[in-house]
Amino acid sequence: MSILSGKNILLGVTAGIAAYKTAHLTRLFVRAGAQVKVVMTPKSMEFVTPLTLSTLSKNPVVSEFISHDEENETWNSHVELGLWADYFLVAPATANSLSKMVKGTADNLLIATYLSAKCPVYIAPAMDLDMYKHPSTTQNLDNLASFGNIIIPAETGELASGLIGEGRMAEPETIVAFMEQHIQKSLPLYGKNVLITAGPTYESIDPVRFIGNHSSGKMGFELAKQAAGMGANVVLIAGPSQQSCDDFPIKRIDVTSAQEMYEAVFQYYDQMHLVIAAAAVADYKPVEVASQKIKKSEDQLTLTLVKNPDILAAMGKVKKQQILVGFALETENELENALGKLKRKNLDAIVLNSLQDFGAGFQKDTNKVTFIDRFENKTTFALQSKKEVAKDIINQILTIYHV
Ligand code: PMT
Repeated sequence: MSILSGKNILLGVTAGIAAYKTAHLTRLFVRAGAQVKVVMTPKSMEFVTPLTLSTLSKNPVVSEFISHDEENETWNSHVELGLWADYFLVAPATANSLSKMVKGTADNLLIATYLSAKCPVYIAPAMDLDMYKHPSTTQNLDNLASFGNIIIPAETGELASGLIGEGRMAEPETIVAFMEQHIQKSLPLYGKNVLITAGPTYESIDPVRFIGNHSSGKMGFELAKQAAGMGANVVLIAGPSQQSCDDFPIKRIDVTSAQEMYEAVFQYYDQMHLVIAAAAVADYKPVEVASQKIKKSEDQLTLTLVKNPDILAAMGKVKKQQILVGFALETENELENALGKLKRKNLDAIVLNSLQDFGAGFQKDTNKVTFIDRFENKTTFALQSKKEVAKDIINQILTIYHV
């Protein structure tokens, strides 16, 4: 899945011949799963039509501060457009528009939107070779880069003038790949290895029965997706669960029992920077697993159970560079029990959720958690979707610790 999936991309088109390539560029963004809006300078419409770009982007294209149709006048707010965008790409960016962007000459909607945008701005210059290497242009590009904009270098090749040299706008595929890589590298967990455990474990009694619990895996899967979205290399070790993470770049390892989860975790633990244990691991398992289905005969059946390995405590014992975060699911004496686990298991933080709280815990799409760091500072988050909870947990970890 592209890192651009679900993102709002604002494409600013200025008046250069390379504007014809923005039709393909728009298609590539849409194919990557992004929402695309287009703002054009009035002159750029001589190179590519708004109809083409609005059809491909599935959004109206704007170019004037006020749009007129047969009956109405509509105010196109550059501020709203600028704030809507997660990323703003100006492509092609002509020498004239570069100069206006440097000076802040807001005499068209595109430049006014650029000045209002708070998001990262990418600029793909395009012009003839002598214009491109003119000191005015190089200085403008340097200035724009010094303002925090990201320049996508022009390429060398045949130009519209027939001359050959540097100044061609980067190809649409190159622009998309450039943005994807740049965004990926700027993510807070880029290059970090994150391991998440999720779901229940099943401890077999016989070939058809097991001891399990009500965990659906939702909380752990949301954490894995969130970490992947923040650029991490994620390993998700999941007990039996109906949840899916197919659309995310996540290495998923399915296990059934606590022993299998333990073995899978320790295959990866050494290389991890962050581990979050959201799985509800069975504390006990039957001493023996019957090889055949146990027949219904006596009125009472006694199972003898033996302790499973405590996976999290085992990780705590050999912790080195890893930031280790556990969960505590409690029904009483919540805080006391959570603090006990934080210390006993040598954790950096513990996330407490209580079955006493409405909307929290197993199976639900929501959760209500208190994050407790290793200094016992507590932050309680409101009841919210598990997706939002996952985001808060990882942000909290990143605020407190250097992962
Ligand atoms: O999966 P959902 O339906 O979305 O529900 C989410 C959840 C309620 C399961 C999740 O939010 C949660 O609280 N997970 C931990 C549940 C639990 O088993 O808590 P515990 O207090 O028993 O265990 C404490 C910690 O030790 C946990 O991080 C657990 O993963 C870990 N542990 C426990 C026992 C064991 N043998 N090995 C472990 O690693």
